[in-house]
Amino acid sequence: MAEGPITVVIRGGRVVGAGGARRADVVVEGGTIVAVEEGAATPPGATVLDAWGCLVAPGLVDLHAHLRQPGHEEAETVETGARAAALGGFSAVVAMPNTDPPIDCVAVAEEVLALGRDAACEVLVAGAITRGRRGEELAPMRELAAMGIRLFTDDGAGVQSGAVMRRALEYALGIGVTLAQHCEDESLAAGGVMHDGAWSSRLGLPGMPAAAEEAMLARDLALVRQTGAPMHFLHLSTKGSVALLAAARAEGLPVTAEVTPHHLALLDAAVEGYDPVFRVNPPLRTRDDADALARALADGTIDAIATDHAPHPPEAKDLPFDQAPPGMLGLETALSVALGALGGILAPEEVLARMSSVPAAIARIGPADRPAASAQGGPVAPGAAGHLCVVDPEATWIPDAHRLASRSRNSPFAGTPLKGRVRHTLYRGVPVVVDAEALQ
Ligand code: DOR
Repeated sequence: MAEGPITVVIRGGRVVGAGGARRADVVVEGGTIVAVEEGAATPPGATVLDAWGCLVAPGLVDLHAHLRQPGHEEAETVETGARAAALGGFSAVVAMPNTDPPIDCVAVAEEVLALGRDAACEVLVAGAITRGRRGEELAPMRELAAMGIRLFTDDGAGVQSGAVMRRALEYALGIGVTLAQHCEDESLAAGGVMHDGAWSSRLGLPGMPAAAEEAMLARDLALVRQTGAPMHFLHLSTKGSVALLAAARAEGLPVTAEVTPHHLALLDAAVEGYDPVFRVNPPLRTRDDADALARALADGTIDAIATDHAPHPPEAKDLPFDQAPPGMLGLETALSVALGALGGILAPEEVLARMSSVPAAIARIGPADRPAASAQGGPVAPGAAGHLCVVDPEATWIPDAHRLASRSRNSPFAGTPLKGRVRHTLYRGVPVVVDAEALQ
């Protein structure tokens, strides 16, 4: 997409900032925000986007998206994933490395970044911690870091060996990158297809205990304490994880964490009908867990909301529950689902911050790490990049599985009325979504 001298006025919305939201028009010119003021004049030739009733926020940043390219283009491509992201209000996504081949070397990382260059949002990559994501020898993290990669993870699996993880953390500290862990002890999780609890017993499905997540989290917190290396924890899902993380934070350990909208909004009881759309790792948990996750976001124990967008095509997903691959779509519905699940717990402005400025800082693409004119995560202020998300918190809509931009259809929210909808998304000052329709 060409970055031209295009001018856009976003009129009549409430602009999200440090002190809440205030009424202002936003003028974006040549990729940069040039004015944020009430009653801004319309420059000649400008495109005017209506934002009445909407919040105008920084473009959202997703720390955790599976874009499947290379290797599983039948599920998603960088292009379709980025379009889905833009429809969800995202102006940046971090593509996970569990592709085929995995992003464990410079050549594959370069390929994915090249595919993202003309996409509807910025596409960053996370590199693998270990070669082939096998959990044995370290990937060439230094070479990948030299390309600007700042996050490394074997996501889809946790690094099982404590010794390998310790070495990886020491190495990461030396080269200034952050490791992100998918906490799942495979010896405890083995064979489990849903949360281990009352519902798994009732449904006769093998359970994955909360301890599978918590044991690895506890181990890694000990390794963070020992090495001093920063660490990010992906898709935390249990009340016990929240308690471990809260203690680590009280101690001052350099840790951050994310939660997904689906772990806030859905419970293990959703598996009742054996619909494989509800199979996901970590599994959907109990009401107690979901409540603890929401409280942890509200009190800052958990920093960010990330999608774990995990496309699987119908032919792969339409299997009996225990044979279907885990994962659900997230990009197009994330903001709506998060706003719904956090209503009365977190103000919409704060939900937006946990999906924009906060993850941008974790990914190290915010204004502290980049020049203002290319930084992600805001602020919505003159001089900042024209990455913007305009959301109507009152709009209701029903996601239609057949109209998703994603190549896959495995959304647990298809057919469910949601409140709060992205109206427009701007990336590099160019409208890529207008009135909830993708323009490219
Ligand atoms: O459910 C999941 N699906 N969890 C993961 O961690 C990986 C993901 C995938 O890649 O499908």
